[in-house]
Amino acid sequence: MKGAVLAGGFGTRLYPLTFATNKHLLPVYSKPMCFYPVETLVKAGIKEVILVSSGPHAGHFIQVLKNGQDLGLDHLEYAYQENPKGGIADALSVCEDFAEGGPLAVILGDNTTDADISSAVASFKDGALVFLKKYEDKKMLKRFGVPVFDESNKRIVEVEEKPENPKSNYAQTGLYLYDRSVFQRIKKLIPSARGELEISSLNSLYAQDKKLYWAELKGYWQDAGTFRALFEANKYWAGKSE
Ligand code: TTP
Repeated sequence: MKGAVLAGGFGTRLYPLTFATNKHLLPVYSKPMCFYPVETLVKAGIKEVILVSSGPHAGHFIQVLKNGQDLGLDHLEYAYQENPKGGIADALSVCEDFAEGGPLAVILGDNTTDADISSAVASFKDGALVFLKKYEDKKMLKRFGVPVFDESNKRIVEVEEKPENPKSNYAQTGLYLYDRSVFQRIKKLIPSARGELEISSLNSLYAQDKKLYWAELKGYWQDAGTFRALFEANKYWAGKSE
């Protein structure tokens, strides 16, 4: 399977840190943030990766990631998302040629995790698989996509984006596996109220066809999109390296 790291957006919640460079190049302890998602893919056996970026600092990535060989990649490709705030599904749409009709492991560029997704990658067949993280405190879920389950509590029927009243205890993380139909499905999406093609809407399209599978992400997971989250990620990775 090939992989995609989505690193567009403006990172406005980290202003002024992101005035001079892209969020995904900021340090998380000893490495630039985007090293972590690339390493998660490499650990899962994925050696061909596309990095999608956008905004004023998109050109900075090549100086940092170069040809990807230092991180264990055989092939690293760069792509540009025309509208930096087009949404995560819009960033993914840029990867269609790269995917060459095959499945894709997708990870958001500000997600750091020590989870091992190799067995899910190895056994993935079709549909989409979303990695979930459980939170006992539902208040924690309000800034995430939250899955709604059927009566058996097994199958996801919908993913609600930032719900006021979360209908489960799970957050949708920024790690996903998609089959080749993903690009056709993205073409059916319309921008949300905030003007983005939402990843939760894309996953809900799979859910409508009973094709959205899930797995609990085992291990540490954190997106680093806010000051607090960036600080927590730094603390975790610093502790782990001691
Ligand atoms: P967000 O954190 O939702 O958006 P952002 O990075 O623009 O930050 P802010 O809200 O502070 O302005 O996005 C999560 C990840 O998804 C981000 O790290 C990169 C990716 N992304 C894209 O690749 N393209 C996009 O259009 C958006 C919105 C996000």
